[in-house]
Amino acid sequence: MSQEQDKIFFKNFSLTLTFIAAMMIAFYFVANAAVQSKFGLVAGDTTTVNTNVAELTEPVGRVVIAGEESESVAAEDVVVADVSTAEGTDGSNGESVYNGLCVNCHGIAALAAMIPQTGDTAAWGPRIGKGVDVLYGNAINGYTGELGMMPAKGGNPALSDEEVKAAVDYIVGQVK
Ligand code: HEC
Repeated sequence: MSQEQDKIFFKNFSLTLTFIAAMMIAFYFVANAAVQSKFGLVAGDTTTVNTNVAELTEPVGRVVIAGEESESVAAEDVVVADVSTAEGTDGSNGESVYNGLCVNCHGIAALAAMIPQTGDTAAWGPRIGKGVDVLYGNAINGYTGELGMMPAKGGNPALSDEEVKAAVDYIVGQVK
């Protein structure tokens, strides 16, 4: 190797080393800034380090049973209905019958003009006024009213009368 070549090599090699050193310094500051903005930590400062393991490992969400909710229910928590509150006389679950079928018509706000929507006081007030037995009968046997046709058992003949009644109870219970 000639001396000239040595010079060129040395020049390139030191440029490369300088570049790597500059990158290391840059990375140090970038990482420091990132940690600081996310955790409020400053490099070398151990006083602000959060050593509360319970807080650091806290789950982001929990399953909460509706009715047992505490004030600590967070937005991420999944609230599930307490199934035991919506049972019919024979143990059939009105809410799950409702959610399995009736919700497809009675739980779609866009259809409010054609189907009385669950929770709609104006739509249900007069119906409830007819007496719950009339509602049971019309839900079980089907009926056609001013708005349209309520299919017998919501269109599922496999449902027992008790299940349909429980679902009616659930709907009536949603009217405030
Ligand atoms: C295919 C759509 C559809 C499904 C599914 C459906 N309904 Fe209905 N339901 C209607 C319509 C439409 C009316 C309103 C009829 C009217 O008054 O013009 C109605 C009315 C009712 C009424 C009021 C009856 C009255 O006398 O005023 C009850 C109670 C009822 N539905 C319960 C249920 C229950 C319980 C289920 C599930 C098992 C169910 N519906 C499923 C369409 C549906």
